[in-house]
Amino acid sequence: MISPIVTVPRAGPAPGASSLVEALEGGAVLMFPDLDFPFSPFEERFVERPFADGKAKNVNIRGAGAEIRGAAGTPEEREALRQLLIRYRTFAQDLIDRHLPAYTGKIALAGTSYRPFDVDRRKLSWRRDDTRLHVDAFPSNPIGEKRILRVFRNINPDGQPRHWRVGEDFGSMADRFLGRLPGYSPLSARLLAALRITKARRSEYDHLMLHLHDALKQDTAYQQSAPQADVRFAPGQTWVTFSDLVMHGAMGGRYMLEQTAYLPVESQADPRKSPQRILAAKLGRPLQ
Ligand SMILES: [Fe+2]
Repeated sequence: MISPIVTVPRAGPAPGASSLVEALEGGAVLMFPDLDFPFSPFEERFVERPFADGKAKNVNIRGAGAEIRGAAGTPEEREALRQLLIRYRTFAQDLIDRHLPAYTGKIALAGTSYRPFDVDRRKLSWRRDDTRLHVDAFPSNPIGEKRILRVFRNINPDGQPRHWRVGEDFGSMADRFLGRLPGYSPLSARLLAALRITKARRSEYDHLMLHLHDALKQDTAYQQSAPQADVRFAPGQTWVTFSDLVMHGAMGGRYMLEQTAYLPVESQADPRKSPQRILAAKLGRPLQ
């Protein structure tokens, strides 16, 4: 089954419609067509040219101090961009509180990013090529028992959509790839942490997800022939998905805002729908 796109009007789903949390945990992308996130006249410049130093893929704020990294421009402009990202973080929290209230108080907001570059322009190695269908996994930042929820918004000023591919459901993908992955070594996981190559011990789940990410991106036949659908998110649209569960590739578009959030597996409405529990069920044992 290909991941569905569920359109959610500002007022929320119609009475009697199935819950948004259920759809989201089941692998849907929730698309909000008409939420407001206005720019001030000063901020319009941030979608006229990229205010990025070009060293990293995007500009972001992180942590309690919300320090900005990767930004370009005058001190005044960098501070205005930082304030814009802080406002977007609040917008994402408000969206969760209003439309996914079951997660309020359980979800932790992490980085907020401004993505001014066209996804097609940068020639990257296959591993970093996010036009290939993949699920998100972070090599140096083990996720363990957390889920990755992301809130995206297209802020392109010229009508250019954000073009995504979405792929088949996680379980069907895992059925094809799980048998090909190398076994997990607790010893090398401890070594990676001791050498500070990873920020924490890489769990078996993290190991499997990294190898799935790489196996998916390297398999050109799968990339071309796997079940998939094109989706175009228009400027002004906001979309929310578990990017560790939903197979996706970013094919085109520039100027986007993104908020990452972490949710403990145990805080899900149904933890069995997590990639952690799906993989454990397919292996027939708990993950190490
Ligand atoms: Fe991704």
